[in-house]
Amino acid sequence: MAGEATLILDGQEYRFPIREGTEGERAIDIQDLRARTGHITLDPGYGNTGSCESAITFIDGEQGILRYRGIPIEQFEQAPNFVEVAWLLIFGHLPSAEEYRIFSERLTAYANLDESMKHHFEGFPRSAPPMAILSAMINALSCFHPDFFELEDRDHFQAAAAGLISKIRTIAAYAYRHSVGRPYIYPHPGQRYVPNFLHMMFSQPYAEYVCDPIVKDALNLILILHADHEQNCSTSTVRMVGSSQANLFASCAAGVCALWGPLHGGANVAVLEMLDRIHRGHISPEDYVRLAKDKDSKVRLMGFGHRVYKNFDPRARMLANVAEKLLPTLGVRDPLLDIARRLEEIALEDPYFVDRKLYPNVDFYSGIILRAIGIPTNMFTVMFAIGRLPGWIAHWWEQAQTQGNRIARPRQIYVGPGVTDHVPREARV
Ligand code: SDX
Repeated sequence: MAGEATLILDGQEYRFPIREGTEGERAIDIQDLRARTGHITLDPGYGNTGSCESAITFIDGEQGILRYRGIPIEQFEQAPNFVEVAWLLIFGHLPSAEEYRIFSERLTAYANLDESMKHHFEGFPRSAPPMAILSAMINALSCFHPDFFELEDRDHFQAAAAGLISKIRTIAAYAYRHSVGRPYIYPHPGQRYVPNFLHMMFSQPYAEYVCDPIVKDALNLILILHADHEQNCSTSTVRMVGSSQANLFASCAAGVCALWGPLHGGANVAVLEMLDRIHRGHISPEDYVRLAKDKDSKVRLMGFGHRVYKNFDPRARMLANVAEKLLPTLGVRDPLLDIARRLEEIALEDPYFVDRKLYPNVDFYSGIILRAIGIPTNMFTVMFAIGRLPGWIAHWWEQAQTQGNRIARPRQIYVGPGVTDHVPREARV
């Protein structure tokens, strides 16, 4: 315990223990506040509320620090390997050669979907939002893999984690193929994680997609940078659903739904739509920034701002570097990248953004890279989900392993009508 906090209520003193984390962040432990004082706290959006103790990811928003199991995010930039990072997040250490071999073999073995699941895709309109399909099909997986329910031991859980991490690619690719009326391409047994996904997305029965090594590295890094971010909206949703002892698939399907929102993972689509609107509308970046500052415009500079980062989001910096290198190498000249860079330049010198500590976040450049690779805009948030899935699984498992874990059930302050009598319909006006 790192000291105590004293609360004075109605003239009475109450002391609460201070908890301190590895990096010195401090919390007032109020687990018995209501029992002792009859009061609750009120914190809409939970900006000041810790929901749990976690050992998975550390963020320092003021310093712009992000670490996975203590490893700074910048150290994954060289030879990025998403599968290794997925293992690190879930199991707490980088995989040994043997652990990596077994996990990789499971990812290959589990890549296919049950053949009858293909009929589910046919039931969706081609215009169906891919995030709706993703959430539905992750839930549907639980109908075909009851063995993934009984996670009483680590090996069963590892198989279920590998199954979900592998199959999310296949579901995503099949959702895309259905939307463009192309035949489903089966996973390739000889392809690694990212190239296999791109194979299922872009190969044709008559022409196999060849994955450029720079694209493989870029997409591995994008998935790594999205892999976890402590108690963000979608991860907290996964923990909330998992706290009722709902299964891993139902919990992650709920995470997909939370991620879909434009204030969260949906922002990468909103950023591209914003840049495209500026480009096609011949709007100057200066004029658009003026709009974003005007509350009445209801316009926001999408991809800017963050609840935690009050400094640069380190992921945004790394993704900006990827974009600067990848596009020229692929021979892609994207005017939206020029617009993004100009918006960033203007905003970083504008007091409105500086005073509010609004910096580019992970979503500001990711869409430009995905677009250069050939991923359609409506699949961007699906890509975020593929990246974030290991983080969701890690948090679900950490919570499931926590002794004495309780169902998440926040309180409220009721502000509705006082006691009121029921009025029979015939007596209503
Ligand atoms: C992700 O939590 C995570 O970790 C999320 C994430 C992850 O990895 O899981 O990092 C991924 O979701 C990144 C965020 C993607 N969303 C966007 O880019 C959407 C645009 N950004 C904003 O809507 C906003 O910044 C949020 C949602 C990200 C954060 O919202 P907050 O913390 O609730 O901040 P706020 O809405 O209270 O804004 C504070 C002030 C307000 O102005 P004032 O009332 O003080 O005058 O800043 C303004 C806001 O109007 N503001 C913006 C703005 N973001 C905040 N003004 C213009 N453009 C913006 N983008």
